[in-house]
Amino acid sequence: MNFELTEEQALLQQTVRRFAEEEVAPGAIERDESKIWPEDIVRQLGEMGLMGMMVPDKWGGAGMDTVAYTIAMEEICRADASVGVIMSVNNSLVCSLLHTFGTDDQKDKYLTPLARGEQLGAFSLSEPQAGSDASNLLCRAERDGDGYRVSGTKNWVSNGQHSDVVLLFALTDPEKKHKGISCFIVEKGWSGFSVGKPEDKLGIRASDTTELYLDEVKVPVENRIGGEGDGFRIALATLDGGRIGIAAQALGIAQAALDHALAYAQEREQFGHQIVDFQAIQFKLADMATEVEAARLLVRRAAFVKDRGDSASSAAAMAKVFASEAAMKAATQCVQIHGGYGYMRETGVERLMRDAKITQIYEGTSEIQRVVIARELQRKG
Ligand code: CAA
Repeated sequence: MNFELTEEQALLQQTVRRFAEEEVAPGAIERDESKIWPEDIVRQLGEMGLMGMMVPDKWGGAGMDTVAYTIAMEEICRADASVGVIMSVNNSLVCSLLHTFGTDDQKDKYLTPLARGEQLGAFSLSEPQAGSDASNLLCRAERDGDGYRVSGTKNWVSNGQHSDVVLLFALTDPEKKHKGISCFIVEKGWSGFSVGKPEDKLGIRASDTTELYLDEVKVPVENRIGGEGDGFRIALATLDGGRIGIAAQALGIAQAALDHALAYAQEREQFGHQIVDFQAIQFKLADMATEVEAARLLVRRAAFVKDRGDSASSAAAMAKVFASEAAMKAATQCVQIHGGYGYMRETGVERLMRDAKITQIYEGTSEIQRVVIARELQRKG
């Protein structure tokens, strides 16, 4: 067993780390404060091949694997988790879904510009009454001649406002429950499609999250991905990969919390000593470092399982539940170590605490991840 990065992976890490430190980190506090969407950074991510990392170059991607993707995600999120979620949705929910389940025509038309970063994608499954109970959809796609008419309300759509294309799940046959859900590629400019106002969120405030409203939107049949009724299976299989991306996002936040906490503990003096000399602080740092390392191993393992072509459901759920909880704990301890300064916005570490929280919620809550893990245990046992 080899825990070292390959030369190629180490070079990717170095390149993305430098970009994150020089271009992403500097404006992170201001973007969070004023909810500024990082347009210029997203454009640069596209130019660097980071928006379609796992897509073969034939379809405009960088042709890398999931392990490489987690390395890049960690580095970007160490600087700004808002930028990370924009990148994660486009890579592991949108491009991966199109690459795995799309036809060649769909890949030519939609995947190529998305993977090149020339366009941005969103993934829209949730509805006001369908969060964890994701198959409880009301959004309806009724067959109409050579296409469908889609009507309904979707919510909590990351990239909802800035995306060009949305992969959207709707009921083609309400009688069949989850087996009546289908997946569609919907262009934002189509008649009857409108976007709600951006949500005012606790964290990842520089990314946008919106409702989407569909009023009899005409979607051609060639924009259906997979067969009628395949949608829920496509959504859950895609979320297995998405959860690896969010686990890597959480890992980046946890690492950032450790970096800031250590630096501050070495600089801050109280009672005539650097506070890092006190065992109370040392134990906190030791626990943070241990959990960050364990999270990294779980994230890399989930990515490795996926790259090997095996089902990554359980490995992804374990990585996400552990890394997101490690991120929340590390960010909280980071604020604690900073004391009163940590509570002030200008120090920037309270942002880590607010950003960490969403990693325990989106793409399946920690409770849902435990359901996935327990079901797999029961299936195997
Ligand atoms: N891959 C492929 N198929 C799968 C699967 C997987 N990982 N997991 C289950 N399925 C299949 C099952 O085999 C079953 O198929 P059959 O009926 O043909 O046998 C079907 O899907 C239904 O499975 P379940 O009976 O297990 O479904 P369930 O209703 O009990 O739900 C769940 C399971 C795990 C709770 C699921 O609903 C879930 O993951 N919920 C959380 C939803 C979620 O993660 N939402 C995130 C939204 S995206 C987001 O956050 C967006 C963003 O912008 C960042």
